[in-house]
Amino acid sequence: KYPALHITIIGGGYVGLVTGTCLAHLGHDVTIVDIDETKISAINSAVPPIYENGLSELLKNHIGKNLRASTEYTSVSEGDVIFIAVGTPPNPDGSANLSYIRSAAENIANQLVKQRTSYPVIVVKSTVPPGTTQNIVGPILASKLPKQSFDCCMNPEFLREGRAIDDFFHPDRIVLGTTDEQTLNIMKNVYSGLDAPVLTTGSTAAEMIKYTANAFLATKISFSNEIGNLCKQLDVDVYEVMKGVGLDHRISPHFLNAGAGFGGSCFPKDVSALAVLSEAAGVHPILLQAVLAVNEAQPLQMIRILERHFPDLKEKRIAVLGLAFKDNTDDIRESRSIPVIASLLDKNAVPVCYDPMAGENMKHVFPNVLYCNSAKEALKNADACLVMTEWPEFSQLNEEFDGMKFRVIIDGRHILTIPDAEGVCW
Ligand code: UDX
Repeated sequence: KYPALHITIIGGGYVGLVTGTCLAHLGHDVTIVDIDETKISAINSAVPPIYENGLSELLKNHIGKNLRASTEYTSVSEGDVIFIAVGTPPNPDGSANLSYIRSAAENIANQLVKQRTSYPVIVVKSTVPPGTTQNIVGPILASKLPKQSFDCCMNPEFLREGRAIDDFFHPDRIVLGTTDEQTLNIMKNVYSGLDAPVLTTGSTAAEMIKYTANAFLATKISFSNEIGNLCKQLDVDVYEVMKGVGLDHRISPHFLNAGAGFGGSCFPKDVSALAVLSEAAGVHPILLQAVLAVNEAQPLQMIRILERHFPDLKEKRIAVLGLAFKDNTDDIRESRSIPVIASLLDKNAVPVCYDPMAGENMKHVFPNVLYCNSAKEALKNADACLVMTEWPEFSQLNEEFDGMKFRVIIDGRHILTIPDAEGVCW
């Protein structure tokens, strides 16, 4: 059996919490550090502050044993490996805000300079612009610590919300951005419980791999949406087309689902950040900007289709099924339902919303719209219905639609199984 390591994770958000809990499950001794006391006490009581499939059970198994959370940086002193997994939210211009990364690096250095006896590996897990590990994190640590007393590695995550635990234990690859042999050995120990190809690169290439993977997946979606919009005009089923395209192993069938567009905390933010840094590097990002533009326009296609049925949407009752940015999560960040609801309100329509999990979160964005406890309730007397999220339960809907006033059903996710639903781009 591989040696268990002492690991500290800075940041108890989505990535830090999932990564820390899964590393504990691999047998390591893990401390999660966050400044948010409410979050820390929730984690220590084995109550995940976010919803993620399977996380609650894993937390219960490990918290108080080989997993704990703290607001203090003291565990950094004993750590073999310290992960930085803090947020990199977008600045107003779309670039990544690195202030949390900087303060995490400073706090680590301040702690290590006080007490450290042996040398840790400091791993950047957060999604950061190329060069951040080498030019920002490294120098902050080096300004306080003796040379040779630490080493930095960039190790991106590829976790999908809702499937993050499974993605952690069955990754397609593990990217280790370091050229130092000793650091590589320690990092291989961190993940030695997993069966996955390991790719070693420089830290800047590792940072670029993360942005590029997300930008490529987002490109596949926007590409499918543009082709879908054309297919709709030509009266061709884009799903049939993409099935035929995706069978080519060079393309793969994944992430070709046309519809309402992509949301979430990663794709919109990472593509914007990559576009901004590309412009700054003197390379005008024609393709990346087009990916974003297609995605901005896509949810409003649903309104356009709706207006073909009701040129005046005033006081029309529109059931909005799905508020989360995708299924299996309560996360509404960049959800495509947000621009759709905003547009409905703008046109004086009456959105009537339902989501199995995300209703409470959406109430913060739209406190004054109607929320229901079931799809059936939202559909009752509705003039039309818009499906915004690929929740599996929507594929079971059938007689619930009988309660509608008019049967205008627009499926933004290709999830309904009733024959008369209309697609956004098929
Ligand atoms: C993504 C990446 O997949 C993950 O590897 C990375 O680490 C974080 O960002 P996530 O944002 O959780 O994960 O969701 P994902 O499943 O990738 O879906 C993103 C969005 O794209 C959703 O809004 C989804 O509905 C949409 N989507 C996805 C499509 O519109 N079509 C598709 O074919 C696939």
